[in-house]
Amino acid sequence: MRRTFEERRSQAGISLSLLVLPVVGLLLLSLVLVTLSLATVWVGIPLFLGTVPVVRSFANHHRRLVEGLTDRPVPEPYLPVPAQASSWQRFALVMKDQATWRDLLWLLVNGTAGLLVGFLPVVLLAESVMVLAVNPLVFALFDPQGMSTWIGWIEVRDFDTALQAMPLGLVSLALFWVGTPALLGWYAGLARGFLEPTPQAELKKRVEHLTVSRSDSVGSAAAELRRIERDLHDGAQAQIVSLGMNLGLAQELMDRDPRTASKLLEEARESSTQALAELRRLVRGIHPPVLADRGLLGGLQALAMACPIPVTSKIEIPGRAPDPIEAALYFAVAEVLTNAARHSHARQVGLSASHAGGRITVEVTDDGDGGAVLTPEGGLGGLGRRLKAFDGTVVLNSPVGGPTRVILEVPCELS
Ligand SMILES: Nc1ncnc2c1ncn2[C@@H]1O[C@H](COP(=O)(O)OP(=O)(O)OP(=O)(O)O)[C@@H](O)[C@H]1O
Ligand SMILES: [Mg+2]
Repeated sequence: MRRTFEERRSQAGISLSLLVLPVVGLLLLSLVLVTLSLATVWVGIPLFLGTVPVVRSFANHHRRLVEGLTDRPVPEPYLPVPAQASSWQRFALVMKDQATWRDLLWLLVNGTAGLLVGFLPVVLLAESVMVLAVNPLVFALFDPQGMSTWIGWIEVRDFDTALQAMPLGLVSLALFWVGTPALLGWYAGLARGFLEPTPQAELKKRVEHLTVSRSDSVGSAAAELRRIERDLHDGAQAQIVSLGMNLGLAQELMDRDPRTASKLLEEARESSTQALAELRRLVRGIHPPVLADRGLLGGLQALAMACPIPVTSKIEIPGRAPDPIEAALYFAVAEVLTNAARHSHARQVGLSASHAGGRITVEVTDDGDGGAVLTPEGGLGGLGRRLKAFDGTVVLNSPVGGPTRVILEVPCELS
């Protein structure tokens, strides 16, 4: 009951705001139309570009309103405008964006439907409050002389007329109570139709996102290949070359100087052991065996144990994610923990990982100096690109003075 009461109170607040917002919207619409008509003589272009962000933030306010009413987010539909674009390019992009015109149409629709949705509940509520204020008891107890007020079509001035107005107040209250959620629900549906991205716009955004993440993944895969090539070249390959040389020399010296030959063979054996260790290290870097054996849960536990700073971990991943996602998250956490050990001067690190709502979320916090920055060239930027290939995100929060918190999220289902 208390919840319903609070719901009605907030709905009455929304209705009240809808008495003002649609009118503001109509004023904004007129302003945009004026700037558009001035665009023919150039001066309108900067004016139009100045009003568009106002219209968009106004529409965004309604998106949040609709989200609050329906418990379902309304994503922004706007196509991205590059920061370095010239005024003319921005004008062309905004004019080409369907969402601009849908917003303007929305301002017009909201100017009528929104006003109605604001008006009805407020009038009904006001009427029921009035009836409560001038109820028959007031006249019976205090008999206020000369008091007269209109409630609907009834002029309330004494006990009898107050009694006649009572049913009207009760009906108004009932209509407000029952009708307001339905009316606001209808309004939210209507608003959603205009403010939500169209399937076409969503597809376009998705294609743009995929184009960027594909080129990022290709780039990071190429960088990874180069790293493996360098590691092979400088590590195992060099050792195998020296192994071959030692074996060759040993073969030559076998009859003439068996002692030196045996020393060379000893060195060759050492080189082969080192090359093997190098190859093992490299293979671990490509897909750590702990991930293959024990999944992300085991991988993260191993990383926590190997970290030079004490790590308090809480890892709840009841299943296996696809291999590439496990590897991406493993290396991302490895980078974040390495950063904490290298840069933060932290005394304690917290690592938590969980799976909920179709996403794996990993959070790493350290109580160090903070001030971390995410640059495209740095390790943090690299892990951002790695996760982006899986539609994942990295959020870094690291005020100077600490603490540093890194949240990694990747959508995926567990098997
Ligand atoms: N946990 C942290 N606490 C404090 N500062 C940090 C932390 N993590 C990163 N930083 C700062 O942010 C910078 C960027 O980090 P990033 O991982 O991108 O690069 P890097 O560690 O310097 O180089 P790379 O990872 O490529 O070896 C670091 O140079 C460091 O100054
Ligand atoms: Mg780093």
